[in-house]
Amino acid sequence: MKYSFLLLAATATLLGACESSQTETTTRTEPSATEAANQAPAPAPSAEAPAAAAPATPAVAVKLDGSALYASTCQACHQASGQGLPNAFPSLVGSPRVNDADGKQLVNIILNGYNERDEYGVMPGYAGSMSDDKVAAVATHVRNSWGNKGSEVSADFVRKLRATTK
Ligand code: HEC
Repeated sequence: MKYSFLLLAATATLLGACESSQTETTTRTEPSATEAANQAPAPAPSAEAPAAAAPATPAVAVKLDGSALYASTCQACHQASGQGLPNAFPSLVGSPRVNDADGKQLVNIILNGYNERDEYGVMPGYAGSMSDDKVAAVATHVRNSWGNKGSEVSADFVRKLRATTK
């Protein structure tokens, strides 16, 4: 009788140990599952971020430095003065293509390049390398430099033109 009690107690202890080791295993797997769960939603907020940051986009567009973009993208050909170089790059100063009512011609030239006249070289297009905001910023800069007087060009305007021109 005593022995069977001991046996029962031992079995109970064993079972208890077993159970606790099982719970341990489950609790051990749980954190990694929780970790995975914790990691899984992590990209979700960042995927939501653009939507949340959407109202901030115009602010970013405003902050883009059109002057710096001109210096890094256009100046090598059209020069800091905007006057270009004779027989190579046309002047942007007072150009009707730069100063039209809505900036359509300029944005089209920036996006798709320009190769209309024999006396000048070929201008490459920047549709593949410049975002809508950047095109808008540089276009606005060109339209308001060296005496040019053109209205501001918005990223939305660039986006629409990009979708309809090639
Ligand atoms: C690799 C040299 C080069 C770069 C860089 C370049 N262009 Fe041009 N661009 C040209 C050439 C060449 C023409 C003339 C093409 C023709 O008439 O056949 C031209 C023409 C133009 C015209 C038409 C001007 C007119 O009324 O005759 C505009 C506007 C213009 N470029 C704007 C820009 C802007 C803005 C940038 C920067 C985003 C830029 N270009 C970058 C070479 C360049």
